[in-house]
Formats: sequence, structure tokens, C-alpha cells
Amino acid sequence: MLTDLIQQPADKILALMQAYREDPRDTKIDLGVGVYKDATGNTPVMRAIKAAEKQLWEVETTKAYTGLAGDPAYGNAMIDLVLGDSVARDRIAAVATPGGTGAIRQGFELIKWVNPEATVWISAPTWPNHPSILKFLKMPMAEYRYFDNETRGVDFDGMIEDLSQVKAGDVVLLHGCCHNPTGANLTLPQWAEVIATLQETGAIPFIDIAYQGFGDGLQEDAAAVRMVASEMPETLIAASCSKNFGIYRERTGLLMAISEKADGQPLAQGSLAFLNRQNYSFPPDHGARLVTMILSDDALRADWEAELEEVRQNMLSLRTALATELQRLSGSDRFGFLAQHRGMFSRLGATPEQVETLRRDHAIYMVGDSRLNIAGLNEKTIPILAKAIIDAGV
Ligand code: LMR
Repeated sequence: MLTDLIQQPADKILALMQAYREDPRDTKIDLGVGVYKDATGNTPVMRAIKAAEKQLWEVETTKAYTGLAGDPAYGNAMIDLVLGDSVARDRIAAVATPGGTGAIRQGFELIKWVNPEATVWISAPTWPNHPSILKFLKMPMAEYRYFDNETRGVDFDGMIEDLSQVKAGDVVLLHGCCHNPTGANLTLPQWAEVIATLQETGAIPFIDIAYQGFGDGLQEDAAAVRMVASEMPETLIAASCSKNFGIYRERTGLLMAISEKADGQPLAQGSLAFLNRQNYSFPPDHGARLVTMILSDDALRADWEAELEEVRQNMLSLRTALATELQRLSGSDRFGFLAQHRGMFSRLGATPEQVETLRRDHAIYMVGDSRLNIAGLNEKTIPILAKAIIDAGV
């Protein structure tokens, strides 16, 4: 049996992580995988997480199973963080999942289970693991236009034109904020148009929100999700705590399914719990418990929000500094989009050859589609990157 396995292509992001680790050059710069780094290149454990871990060590008396949906307090705290009071709580089903990827996977499985014919529409481009999981699950998928390579902004007309073709019952996967990999985001009036288009076609939105608090602020980054969820009859949402709580390896996510009416919620809740049981039984609890403690304790929450805001401001400063340095070196405004983009990533618009030149000649690692992780930069590396970008002819 095992000899019949077929070698799969390496995940682009994870392969790059490995190549970076193996590069012996001490000048190397990692702008690959989406992990936040401070000015010293460290990915810190956030203060509130450390404090909650200490408290948890004192008060936790059992490691017995929770429930299939995870601890309901976690679901409630996260629903509040993502959705606020935009949707009546009794319409929302939610289960804890192993990270945001787990929530995406469970969401896709739910779609396939209920309607194997449904096509999942993904943005071109999107996080490479979206199409990879869909392909693995043998689910029909299609792309809608999203990024305009010329302006490095959203190709909004193309997006709406493509979304108008979607069939009723198909699912449209949207990035709630901080689009990965491009960094180009919709404005709220544009979101309103997307919602109107989804309503016309009868498509179901599935929102991936993995970077809440990394773009324009915790509340601001949730505005689009809240708008969609409050105006559409049904919505799926995959939320991740990996980045905004800095608990990547704890695998902490939440899948939400919003039914049109409250009487649909129990069936959705039971179905999500059933899906968890089929795939891994009980979801991981450690990260979820820390998140719950932080969100429900005024002091911990205030400290977490303050540190998250520092992280966000740091990324904004790095964006501005890189755009300014590139403007100085190129004598043009053509890199101004870097300061406009939001979140951890920007797509630079370099060719694969230029990306390879940056790696080979300058030990600068970014994903092959020229996605760079802004948080991988610091004051010292910004001039080095800017010069290398110009030298590579981008
Ligand atoms: C990324 O896009 O770099 C992150 O979401 C990490 C991952 O799992 O790919």
C-alpha cells in the first residue's frame, strides 16, 4: 500500500521556511512564512499569554476531555471578538478547531457533506493552502479575479464581474481583512457591493479571518465580517488566534456557522460537533483556554490589546519606512502601495526570476509570488531589502 503513495509537491511557504533554515549565510533575511517578528527577529510569547499560562498552571485541576465543540466559554468569547453584536447569538453555531486551518478544513468538509456539487470560489491569488485542501478533498473550485498586478490594488470590477457568475448554493471564500498574500483590501463600500452581488446570486460567503487586529485595528478589521454576517442569510466564518494572540503552535481556531433563523442553529451546532468527532474528536484546549482567560479578564485583555496595537503600529511603521526608502532609491512613487496595503503581507509584484535573484544574490527569502512578510523586517534590513529590490530590477 505505502509504495503506491504519490509524492506531493511541497507547500510553497513551508518549503521556503526549510530553505531559509538551511541557508548558512548570516546576512539572510526571512520574509517568508507569516509569523510576526519583533525588531530582534524573535517571535515573542505575548505578555498576556504568559500571564494567563501562569494563572492556568495554578488553577487547572484536570486535563479531562472538554466537549466536541470545545469549551463553550471559548466559543462565546471568540464570537464576541469577531462578530460583536452584529448577529443574534442564537443564530450562531461554533466549534473550536485546531487553528484557522482546522476551521477552514472543517468548513470545506461541511460544504462537501451538504452539497458535493457546490463550487468554492477563491480569490486569485489566495493563501496556497485554500486550493490545496479543496483539491485534496476533490471539491469543485473556481477563481474570481482579485488582484490587479499593475496597480497592486484590488481589481474590483473584475471581482464583481466574476462573482456575478456564481451559481446559487456555491460558496465564495473571502478574506475578512489583511488579504493573504496580497495585502490589498476592499473598502467598506466595496464590501457592500460584494454583499449585494452575493445576495443577487444566492451564493454563501465563507470568511477566513486570520489577522484580526493586524490591519486597521481590532474592531475595524472585523467590520467587513460583521457587515456580511448581519446582511446575509447564512455565513461561514473561520477565525484564527495564531497571529493576534501569537499562539501559532497551540493550534487555536474557531469555525462559526450562522443559520438564517435561530431554529436552524441546533442542527448546525450538532453537525459541526459531529464533524469534529469524525476528524479528531475533541479540539485542542490549551490555546483556547488562554484566549478565553484573556478575553474575559479586564486587565489581561487590556494588556493584550495594548501589545497587539504595538505589533500593528510596528508593521505600519515598517511599511512606511520601506515605501519611503524605495521612493528615495527609485526616485518614483511606484512602491507607494506598500504603505497602503494592510496586514502582515504585501505582494511586491516581482517576477519569479527576480524573487530567485533576491534569494540567490542577497539571501532575501520571500514566497515565489513575491509575497513578503513585512513583520520580518527591521530598521537594519529595510535599506538592504530596498537596495536589493532596485538592483534586481523590480
Ligand atoms: C502563511 O500564510 O504564511 C501562514 O498562514 C502560515 C501558513 O500556515 O502558511
